[in-house]
Amino acid sequence: MRIDLFFIPHQTDELALREKTVIVIDVLRASTTIITALSNGAREIIPVTTVESAVKISGNLFGDVILLGGERNGRMIDGFSLGNSPAEYTAERVRGKAIILSTTNGSQALVKARYARELFVCGFVNIGTVADALWRTPRDFTIVCAGNDGALSMEDSVCAGMLISRVAASGGAEPEMSDGALVARTLHRTFGRGILKMIRSSEHGRRLQEIGMGADLKLCSGIDTLPVLPLLEGNVIKLRDEQERKAPGVHSQES
Ligand code: MLT
Repeated sequence: MRIDLFFIPHQTDELALREKTVIVIDVLRASTTIITALSNGAREIIPVTTVESAVKISGNLFGDVILLGGERNGRMIDGFSLGNSPAEYTAERVRGKAIILSTTNGSQALVKARYARELFVCGFVNIGTVADALWRTPRDFTIVCAGNDGALSMEDSVCAGMLISRVAASGGAEPEMSDGALVARTLHRTFGRGILKMIRSSEHGRRLQEIGMGADLKLCSGIDTLPVLPLLEGNVIKLRDEQERKAPGVHSQES
């Protein structure tokens, strides 16, 4: 097994990720929001990079089953129904809905990795479920951290390191790792004992506290609180069980 890691999406490209097993991590907050929404019964998440694409796609889809969600500068986008706080994605709001999600960093990472052979969405809240999926059927994998405005983010890197540690501890031979993967594992060894404290002191965590969204940090730092496995198929993220049932859903191409 080989583990590669990119601290920001710009370190890689769509072709390099093609046909790989890719794990996208955006702890604050897109991963956590996606995992929460699907846990609370959202039918699917459609990640898109731009507000214009989100509006256009929603216009092409039918009915009252579509919600627009996302943020710019951490705040809800004008005209959207939901921001990017996991707390907003309650069962009452999202059950049965398809959510078109556009966020500053997380959506970009997801769209960049859309040609992966398989793509899992990971945060602290579902890390054990992702680790289980990876070691039960051992294969090489690549972690893409969303980062923060084009720069490395502490919380994504520590989460990546925790995932690597868990997979490596699951038995078998020590995986071969890129330097990025080794650095992330070291970061987790250093900061992993106090996840909420680490998140609160991170650049993105401080910014969210400044704009009154500090409560999200606790939700995003919960470990294994939402044991589900979101995965991308086509342009749509669903829970693995949903994929296996092949439930009909809303599919659309970003243009
Ligand atoms: C992102 O995708 O950039 C983040 O989720 C930003 C945020 O905290 O809302």
